[in-house]
Amino acid sequence: MAAGLFDLSGKVAMVTGAGANGGVGHAIALGYARAGARLIICDIDEDGLERTRSELGDAAVLAMRCDISRDDQVEALFAASNANGCAIDVLVNVPFVFPRRSQPHEVTLADWERMFEVNVAGYFLCIRAAIPGMLAKGSGAIINIGSNAGVSALGRGAFAYSCTKAAVHQMTRELAIEYGRRGIRANAILPAQMRTPGLASHLANPAFRDGVLPRILAGLPMNRLLEPEDMVGPAIFLASDAASAVNGVLLPVDGGNLAMNAGGSPGEASA
Ligand SMILES: NC(=O)c1ccc[n+]([C@@H]2O[C@H](COP(=O)([O-])OP(=O)(O)OC[C@H]3O[C@@H](n4cnc5c(N)ncnc54)[C@H](O)[C@@H]3O)[C@@H](O)[C@H]2O)c1
Repeated sequence: MAAGLFDLSGKVAMVTGAGANGGVGHAIALGYARAGARLIICDIDEDGLERTRSELGDAAVLAMRCDISRDDQVEALFAASNANGCAIDVLVNVPFVFPRRSQPHEVTLADWERMFEVNVAGYFLCIRAAIPGMLAKGSGAIINIGSNAGVSALGRGAFAYSCTKAAVHQMTRELAIEYGRRGIRANAILPAQMRTPGLASHLANPAFRDGVLPRILAGLPMNRLLEPEDMVGPAIFLASDAASAVNGVLLPVDGGNLAMNAGGSPGEASA
């Protein structure tokens, strides 16, 4: 009975940004397949996409290159999905770009615009394309990957990136209100720092490993980086019937990061 609540059999899930081996989209796509879903996956990284497709095996209905910031490419992706007879039950938006760290007064307009094109408009374009099919079915689940950086400020030159994540959170709430009564739920998962390929590449850099990493861990009460795999259970939950009344939630999956007070000291009883 309880396991059935989390069963995704019979559902078609689209995961955008599923091509980064070891990334969040990759982990969620594989997790959804284990839960019984069939998958439509896209990415701009064709090699990575092909690796994910082969790992998915028969669960992969469609794997297609798509830059989610391009309206024409998103339209082509949904046209191909429809041609495959697939009405999407679940949409998970994962991609992001973060071209460089810049303090607010040094952010170029080009970087600002590119981050909003992919991290915000890209999510909007996929959502806009998915909603008519979900309305026709009278059900659907939209899951956006936000960030703890969209709720609390990160500094370290993350100004524009953080603003895009805050926009994703508000987009999620607006969708939840607009479509809740028509059976479409919208929620967001807010990870803290994860050991994704991007972050893992920084671990070899002594300045990051010895300077930034200890600060990150001090803010993570579980005293470890999150793993992309940590996002899978929450993503299955939000897609499943177990979350049938969960709508408009910004769910931190952050090891307790956002719960901690500035004076918080994990595991210490003194002072
Ligand atoms: N890594 C972290 O510590 C962390 C923390 C909080 C939130 N997040 C969020 O988690 C999500 C995933 O992060 P990740 O580190 O797994 O990312 P990742 O880089 O590992 O994977 C993202 C994928 O998106 C693809 N992509 C980029 N631009 C695209 C576009 N225009 N169209 C289609 N695909 C595109 C990339 O090719 C890549 O395969 C992001 O939304 C990120 O903001 C990450």
